[in-house]
Amino acid sequence: MSKRLAVVTGGIGGLGTEICRHLARDGRRVIAVDLATRSERLEAFMDEVSDFDGTIGFAPADISDFNSCRALVEGIESAHGNIDILVNAAGITRDASLRKMTPEQWHQLMRVNLDGIFNTSRQVVEGMCERGFGRIVNLSSVNGQTGQFGQTNYSAAKAGVHGFSMALARETARKGVTVNTVSPGYCDTPMVAAVAPAVREQIVADIPVGRLGSPADIARAVAFLAADDAGYITGANLPVNGGYFMSF
Ligand SMILES: NC(=O)c1ccc[n+]([C@@H]2O[C@H](COP(=O)([O-])OP(=O)(O)OC[C@H]3O[C@@H](n4cnc5c(N)ncnc54)[C@H](O)[C@@H]3O)[C@@H](O)[C@H]2O)c1
Repeated sequence: MSKRLAVVTGGIGGLGTEICRHLARDGRRVIAVDLATRSERLEAFMDEVSDFDGTIGFAPADISDFNSCRALVEGIESAHGNIDILVNAAGITRDASLRKMTPEQWHQLMRVNLDGIFNTSRQVVEGMCERGFGRIVNLSSVNGQTGQFGQTNYSAAKAGVHGFSMALARETARKGVTVNTVSPGYCDTPMVAAVAPAVREQIVADIPVGRLGSPADIARAVAFLAADDAGYITGANLPVNGGYFMSF
């Protein structure tokens, strides 16, 4: 059997890069998908994955656009074969308290963080079900579970990501396709580096484990759910947050 093919959206981002590396280390062929406009970051990414001997490739797409995702999946499948694993890690923030939030901030975020998951999953789910194997892992956030000041848009979208995952998990459970969510806490990535230093210090003080999460902490969880022998876990949310939010 040829090696499983994984597609990781937001694949050149802070978490996405490490997810690509971890999946490649697990023996998967990996395509990182990200915006074509990030050419500087792409160059650094290709450097960071150069030790994988071409196992990790790149394909540009805007996941907020349905047709762009259709062209993306057609292109990848005709060049590399069927997609077995989809990791939806692309995401943005557009923080503002609701009293100040503009419709653009609301809709831009929904188009990427929620529509994006529909746009990509919709392209791959049929083939996965026909072939009787698939793994879809969607990145949510602890802030989708707890809510966060200034993030009505982000928290709503991230809660929606898990609702989407549970519903799709039911639709595909009999076909060998699992759909799960990973909910990172605060991680040491550019997304969190953008938070004001005083707020960041308070966040770390509130994390029982006493540090921010590393991209490797998250990649480990994604790879676990993407494994061939993880077929009995579906519709689940795996929190990776250093104990910041505990629930049952
Ligand atoms: N970093 C954290 O602490 C943290 C915590 C909780 C959840 N998350 C979630 O994890 C995921 C990855 O976060 P990250 O820290 O790697 O963020 P990041 O900003 O480093 O990476 C996100 C990537 O998504 C890409 N992207 C944005 N819009 C896109 C689009 N329309 N089409 C294709 N790609 C697009 C960006 O170019 C970027 O490379 C996100 O969904 C985020 O919400 C992150």
